[in-house]
Amino acid sequence: MSSIYRVSPGGALTGRIRVPGDKSISHRGVMLGAIAEGTTRISGFLEGADTLATMRIFRALGVSIDGPKGGEVTIRGTGMHGLRAPRAALDCGNSGTSMRLLCGLLAGQSFDCELTGDDSLRRRPMRRVVDPLAQMGAVITTVADGRPPLKVHGISDRLTGIDYRMLIASAQVKSALLLAGLYAAGRTCVTEPAPTRDHTERMLAAFGHAVERIDHTVCVQGGGKLVATAIEVPADISSAAFFMVGASIAPGSDIVLEHVGVNPTRTGVIEILRRMGADLTLLDERTVGGEPVADIRVRHAELCGIEIAREWVPLAIDEFPALFIAAANARGETVLNGAGELRVKESDRIQAMADGLRAIGVAATPMPDGMRIEGGGYAGGVVDSHGDHRVAMAFAVAALRAAGPTTINDCANVATSFPGFPELARSAGLKIDAI
Ligand code: S3P
Repeated sequence: MSSIYRVSPGGALTGRIRVPGDKSISHRGVMLGAIAEGTTRISGFLEGADTLATMRIFRALGVSIDGPKGGEVTIRGTGMHGLRAPRAALDCGNSGTSMRLLCGLLAGQSFDCELTGDDSLRRRPMRRVVDPLAQMGAVITTVADGRPPLKVHGISDRLTGIDYRMLIASAQVKSALLLAGLYAAGRTCVTEPAPTRDHTERMLAAFGHAVERIDHTVCVQGGGKLVATAIEVPADISSAAFFMVGASIAPGSDIVLEHVGVNPTRTGVIEILRRMGADLTLLDERTVGGEPVADIRVRHAELCGIEIAREWVPLAIDEFPALFIAAANARGETVLNGAGELRVKESDRIQAMADGLRAIGVAATPMPDGMRIEGGGYAGGVVDSHGDHRVAMAFAVAALRAAGPTTINDCANVATSFPGFPELARSAGLKIDAI
């Protein structure tokens, strides 16, 4: 696996490309397909390390799964109560989504299991799911400080629905509780402080399970069943974001990103870039399998710095590494507040991005819950991605406007969400070599 990117300066992004499938939707397709009755077929599945970890885990739980082959996956569901005890600890790798959602799904099973992951995942906070699940009756232990590995004790059929008001805007927490709620007595309701991605709710409905939404509260009734379905996964807007930013900053760029998921709970990046002056056009908007999809045309534009409104933060939570590169190329200052969650992602993205921006010559000031970036020219240089896929890809597109070459270390984890990134980016015009 390549772990260093060398990117020469200059170039433009052109043509038509389709980035890999949506990570959030791919994870959920495997999870719900596994506990549904009948055979679920997924197309456009993300063949990234994170989603492959979820797939391996369900195989270890006794589910028969074919693929992925060319993005096709076939899952023979076991029904709600057909999962089997695994023989060993379940390894989520780098994937917080796998660990947090599985915590909810496994809390209501009749067997014990252990969830673990790589160094980055074992540093991430899990109390946000463990504490509300405990209120439902789940028995889950963490190591000191609420970190993984987690031991989930099977307590079959003894979960009770709760009304839970989330303290942070997290789709992973919401989803964990809804999945546990499928196994709980009565109704489980989750209230979000701000809208977060709603793929779990949409997909539960596609599997024939009623989901009720009233304002900021979403509820499921326990004791039902899921019926297998077909899922077509759109391209991941979080992966498309690197090309949106790259094309916006590089003169001469004009690129079409095909079949991108544009669920309104994910399009904060489009809104923020437009406010900065970016030229983005949504073409052929359509609905595919319950999810809105469009082709997105992006042309170079002069960007200006903005104050990013707090309400956009959960709707663009994974796109800030890319957006910080847009800010570094904008006229004036860009300010982000209210994004403390970035400190507990695959890396501390505020520190990792501030360090990388300074290393290439951008004036960036990290703040406890955000960042201040002064736009202008930059030199390029050597950047450490801290093993974070999105930090690595952000600095790769930054190189389009650097004065000199950029080297990015520790890039192997790009494969968690975007297998084939260097090749696809090169085909679009980025002067990138992976070594
Ligand atoms: C995800 C939710 C987000 C996001 C992550 C994927 C999901 O995390 O950062 O990459 O699939 O539910 P939070 O909900 O914890 O913010």
